[in-house]
Formats: sequence, C-alpha cells, structure tokens
Amino acid sequence: MSLAQLVAPEAAQSLHIAPAHHMLDYDAAPASIRLRAVEQSFQMRKGPRLVALSNIHLDIQAGEFLCIVGPSGCGKSSLLSLIAGLSFPTNGEVHVNDRVVTGPGPDRILIFQEHGLFPWLTVGQNVEFGMHMMGLGRRKRRERAEQYLQLVHLNGFRDSYIHQLSGGMRQRVAIARALATQPSVLLMDEPFAALDAQTRDMLHDELERIWKETGCTIIFVTHNVREAVRLGSRVILMTYRPGTICSQMDIVLPRPRRMDDPRVALLAREILDELREEINKAVASEYDHVSHS
Ligand SMILES: Nc1ncnc2c1ncn2[C@@H]1O[C@H](COP(=O)(O)OP(=O)(O)O)[C@@H](O)[C@H]1O
Ligand SMILES: [Mg+2]
Repeated sequence: MSLAQLVAPEAAQSLHIAPAHHMLDYDAAPASIRLRAVEQSFQMRKGPRLVALSNIHLDIQAGEFLCIVGPSGCGKSSLLSLIAGLSFPTNGEVHVNDRVVTGPGPDRILIFQEHGLFPWLTVGQNVEFGMHMMGLGRRKRRERAEQYLQLVHLNGFRDSYIHQLSGGMRQRVAIARALATQPSVLLMDEPFAALDAQTRDMLHDELERIWKETGCTIIFVTHNVREAVRLGSRVILMTYRPGTICSQMDIVLPRPRRMDDPRVALLAREILDELREEINKAVASEYDHVSHS
C-alpha cells in the first residue's frame, strides 16, 4: 500500500481544524520558528570539536505539532535547547516570530522526562509557581491553577503532594504548570519515555486535546517513531552525528490516532526503515566507546 492510499480525504481536512480557543482563556498566540544554517559544536576536553548539529534549516509554522525523531545522541535535545534560548548556535540563526532568540523567555517552555516538580509544594502551589515567577497576582494564579488542573483532569488533587501522585499524574502537573504561564511554544523532550504504555496512551490523548484547545506550537522530541506518528502533523528525521535533518513526513491520518492503528504502524515502519542506518551508527559508536574504555 502506498502512502497516498493511506490518506483518506477526511484526513486532509482534519489538518485544518481551528483550535478551539473559546474553550479555554488562552491568551498567547502561537509562534512560528525558523532555523537557518544552524550549527552547534562543542569543544571536548581532548580531541577535535564535536559537531552536534550541522546545517539545520527548519521552518515550523505557528500552531504546528512537529515531532522530531532520531537516534540517541543525534542532537535532538541540543536543538530544543537552542529554541528555548538555553544555548546559542555556533553558527547560523534561530528565530521565533521573526526575532532572533537571545535567551530563554516565558513564551517558550521546555518539559522533560524528569518533570522538575517541587516535592515540598502541593500540586496547586507547583502549578502556581511559574505564574508567581511571572509576577501574576494571587487571585489570578489561583483562578488559572484551577483552570489548568481541570484541563489535565487533576482538579481533585490541588492539595496533594507530588509523592502522592503516579508518574502519569506528575507529568500532567508539569504540563499544567507549563501551560498556566500560557507559552506560545511548548518544547517537549521525550516527556513520556518513562511511562507505562497505558499511561502514555492516555497522555497522548490529553496532549492532543490540549494542543487543539490552546492552539500553541508544539515541538515534541522522541526516539519512539510510533509516538511521533501518533502525535505529529509532521515528523522530522535526523541523522546521527553530525545531526542533520535527512527527511520529513507530513502525517495526514485523521485524529485522534491510536498507537496500535495499522496505518500508524505502517508509517512508523517507513520512518524506521529510513532511520535504520543512523540508528546502527549510533549503536556502533556507543559500543566503540565501551570497547575503548
Ligand atoms: N553541553 C555539551 N557539551 C559537550 N557535548 C554536548 C553537550 N550537549 C550535548 N553534547 C553532545 O552533543 C551530542 C548531541 O547530544 P543531544 O542533543 O543530547 O542528543 P539527543 O538528545 O539526540 O540524544 C551528543 O554527542 C552529546 O554528547
Ligand atoms: Mg536527548
């Protein structure tokens, strides 16, 4: 079966669903992102500079759900860090809404696998924390915390502590905390990698719904190609060291998709076939390090 045969006509339309802003008071307009001839290299203690990213040209539309896949060590986290403004390219430029990124800002929020919640604060206080940093008043914080906890279905847990929650619930608190500051761009670095399959599937549904309700731009990094096809409007494939973009695929399957949908599996297989050589290089390099140490 070819790719074209997989794409039902109604799927093409589903790409143009307008985000339902009315359901949530989400003030931030989504941002577009542009990377031009980006190179990122690091001076190692011994040996030559390590080129982590090379010749990256990438245009991300406002409101897009972009997934990035590639083998471990190909520079996915480095790429997110550049967009977040936590590091700067050795060469080239990173623009958000046509402005050069000069540092981190509340318009771009990064979510990791380690959710970074504070164990000494309650769920509600954790969600309020980012808003506190932004200088929002107490009432506004309370109001929004409630709204965003509701968005991730945790309104009953406002006064719980983090250790009382499951892994999936913690990740949802992290998402609520990030969204409560109303970023234009959500940067997600393998956020669900440590979760069990059922919890992850549930969070996929939740994230997709949140994307539609907020309309924000999402850049989602994963090494799980099926997850990328499940979530992304587009999937970018990266090569191993130096990390470059070798290929991309628009995913026009209707939403919501399921991880076990055969059409998702088939596209994931195509992506995996393209990545195979790069994954082998990554694995070989890791074995090389082991045998030399
Ligand atoms: N701050 C840094 N200093 C030196 N090397 C780094 C630094 N950050 C990343 N690297 C290297 O850059 C490469 C890409 O890393 P990373 O972006 O974390 O890859 P990925 O997220 O795809 O696994 C790796 O070889 C890593 O060791
Ligand atoms: Mg990484």
